[in-house]
Amino acid sequence: MLIDILTLFPGMFEGPFNESIIKRAIERGLVTIRIHNIRDWATDRHRTVDDYPYGGGAGMVLKPDVLVAAIEAVRGDDGYVILLTPQGRVFTQQIARELAQKPHLVLVCGHYEGVDERVCQLAVDDEISIGDYVLTGGELAAMVVVDATVRLIPGVLGDQASLQEESHSSGLLEYPHYTRPAEFRGLRVPEVLLSGHHAEIARWRRRESLRRTLERRPDLLEKAPLTAEDRKLLEEIRAEKAQAAKQERQAAAQVDAGTQDTAQPQDA
Ligand code: ADE
Repeated sequence: MLIDILTLFPGMFEGPFNESIIKRAIERGLVTIRIHNIRDWATDRHRTVDDYPYGGGAGMVLKPDVLVAAIEAVRGDDGYVILLTPQGRVFTQQIARELAQKPHLVLVCGHYEGVDERVCQLAVDDEISIGDYVLTGGELAAMVVVDATVRLIPGVLGDQASLQEESHSSGLLEYPHYTRPAEFRGLRVPEVLLSGHHAEIARWRRRESLRRTLERRPDLLEKAPLTAEDRKLLEEIRAEKAQAAKQERQAAAQVDAGTQDTAQPQDA
């Protein structure tokens, strides 16, 4: 895969792509990442890249002539051009999978108040946001998109099985992990994981994965592909939780009754 990144701050990319898995993927030729300075396409002697917004208002806008020239210079005939912007579709694992299929990505990092709208009309295929918050520019968002996408390219991760099990790939959050020691500061690793019983372990993991998703991201359960067995496990988990909540209410009521008993003589 070829990835071109257009930015006003090329130095920001020096760290993240020179470490760990992405670095190894580059060294092994699985991905080529080229960083370009948008300013190289400015045409005046001040190398101007931005201008005041028509209609007035705060901030500056990236000039369409400079940005379109930069995009056209790198996109070739197969570049899929993505603008990073808080107004884009929200990035997900599914979008990362989509992008991992493409031979050539061009990531355009917006800055200032944004880019001239005509750039989107003329030269952008897709607009992506990494979440509902505003960054100072698209660079960190581009790094997130590159990281999540490149690790899905076949061969980049050593163990492809871990891709199947990780959070979001199945539409659910991942189960909890443990390593030695079996007891740490009074907390024991769940016994089933020490049992060596593979079917039981798989069932426990699926259950915990469902439990986590129910507790932390119930919205994901609506779209996740669940089996009949999963639905049964979910019902068990819900029943357990309802039971635990009931016991908690009863315990709280007992504590309440206790404090009232001791409070009355003092009030009298
Ligand atoms: N640029 C500024 N904020 C952003 C966001 N949330 N996602 C993508 N690009 C951005």
